[in-house]
Amino acid sequence: MKPLHHFAFFLGAVLLLAFSACNTAPDKTPAQQTPADTSGIAAKKWWKEAVVYQIYPRSFKDSDGDGVGDLKGIISKLDYVKSLGIDMVWLNPVYASPNKDNGYDISDYQNIMKEFGAMADFDALLQGFHDRDIKVFMDLVVNHCSEEHAWFKSARSSRNSPYYNYFHWWPAEKGKPPYRWSIFDEKGDAWEYNKATDSYYLHYFADAQPDLNWENPALRQEIYKMMRFWLDKGIDGFRLDAIAFCSKDTTWSPLPAAYDGNWGMYYASGPYLHDYMQEMNREVFSKYDIATVAEAMGDVERVMKFVDPARKELDMAYYFEAIDFGYLPKEYKMPDPKGYDFVAWKKIYAKWTDAFAQKGWGTMYLANHDQPRMLTRWGNDSPAVRDVSSKMLTTFILSMRGTPFYYFGDEIGMTNIKFDKVDDYNDIELLTNYAQVKAKGGDLKRFLEGMKISSRDNGRTPMQWDDTPNAGFSTGKPWLKVNPNYAAVNVSSQEADPNSILNYFRAMAQLRKKEPVLIYGDWQLVDADNPDVFAYTRTLNNKKLLVLLNFKAVDATANTGLDLSKAKVLIGNYPAPSVSGKLKPYEAVILELP
Ligand code: GLC
Repeated sequence: MKPLHHFAFFLGAVLLLAFSACNTAPDKTPAQQTPADTSGIAAKKWWKEAVVYQIYPRSFKDSDGDGVGDLKGIISKLDYVKSLGIDMVWLNPVYASPNKDNGYDISDYQNIMKEFGAMADFDALLQGFHDRDIKVFMDLVVNHCSEEHAWFKSARSSRNSPYYNYFHWWPAEKGKPPYRWSIFDEKGDAWEYNKATDSYYLHYFADAQPDLNWENPALRQEIYKMMRFWLDKGIDGFRLDAIAFCSKDTTWSPLPAAYDGNWGMYYASGPYLHDYMQEMNREVFSKYDIATVAEAMGDVERVMKFVDPARKELDMAYYFEAIDFGYLPKEYKMPDPKGYDFVAWKKIYAKWTDAFAQKGWGTMYLANHDQPRMLTRWGNDSPAVRDVSSKMLTTFILSMRGTPFYYFGDEIGMTNIKFDKVDDYNDIELLTNYAQVKAKGGDLKRFLEGMKISSRDNGRTPMQWDDTPNAGFSTGKPWLKVNPNYAAVNVSSQEADPNSILNYFRAMAQLRKKEPVLIYGDWQLVDADNPDVFAYTRTLNNKKLLVLLNFKAVDATANTGLDLSKAKVLIGNYPAPSVSGKLKPYEAVILELP
């Protein structure tokens, strides 16, 4: 078994969430009625038209100088968020948590993490977003909770606790539990012995994150009640974290001989997963006009089950195949030194985009809190080209079919911090894997080099607001180091520059709003085997756009076979955008064809 490999697979899988709008509730604004849909596929929904901006609260803005971002900090930046032209914000978990996995270990689902503020701050934040016509969706972390949750504290005290069956246990009198792997456990063991009950509890993540037993209807009702609490406050949707893990094989039979280390496939997507999703929809989602997005794992067939509207489960799904591409096999997120196969990568997007054209609805993202910075991973972060490269990636995200999820800081071209020392890292994922490599006598230097590209902390460094100390993020010592490039890369300097990365993002977000073809139009890959250029058309009724993206640092030519002689430029990332198909390094251009 190769745990490092599984982990990368897992995270990809975990991040697939779906916005789900209520199937029965009518759309609110007449202005948002669906434009004619030539494909006949896409019933119009507000969440298909939204641009989502992800805020990692810990790193966005610190209001009280403790070095940790907080809700009042976000409140102080509401006008900035509005100025981006986005429609919806996804907040990473803000619930009470001891922060073993930065909020993904929840000790009280109906309270706010102390470092982030209080419920009154949350209410003010929600109101502030709503006053600005920005919707808010929250992370729903319900595969597991924290060992400090009252349910678990009671459960672990006695087998007679009313909460014992809220968790998965293996009684010690049956001997050692059958092997299961854990993603954030140094020993790689998902069973942890608990003395008071003389039994082992299951934790697919860290031992501080016990898995909840979804087979217990009482647990499910508690979760639905908690969801209604937030929805009744007026939040607009949920991202369902690691949702495929809720149902698992609880016969705990030995792993099949065919088990190939593909953790997600064998440990998640259990027999009742979609029963639970349908129950959740019936009991909760269908009563509200909201959106849901699944962090779902697996192939097209598995993912589609969450979002096929006929099944009445969730609305949108993240998929992982493209974002997890380009790592060495059987290793933990270790980038292939030879780079990645660009043509194959494009075809992954084509496969998923085509699938969502038939049914359901996808998402588009290149980064989030589980990923490094998109500019380092998928573009080029060197100062000479980071401007164009970053704008090119933004053009990509905002011109694809599927709701765009855009990660905070990418709108100013933030880059990986590339820590040299393990001591600089905070993330449980990295620290666990470092310890495992070390225990096996592996090459730690090579591991740390790889992590400069792929580790999650690269995407978690504080927001760079200006060129004052700590990039204007905090007056205290930031919980994670600020990227030293903040003097050159920050919001304040880019506000003033009409050609900045920031203002390009705003222009692209406006363009998406103005052109329904970018939302509902058909998508077609062209010049598929071009080794440098990602080229596709978007077509709706009589409108046809051609998107040309040069992903390479060299001049390149798109051979689309289309007549460009009368093409009109809608946007481009160079002062004189190309209308000929000949592209400068990292050039992006969207052309309207007659
Ligand atoms: C999801 C989250 C990730 C977290 C994991 C465990 O994948 O996105 O940040 O570590 O779940 O909760």
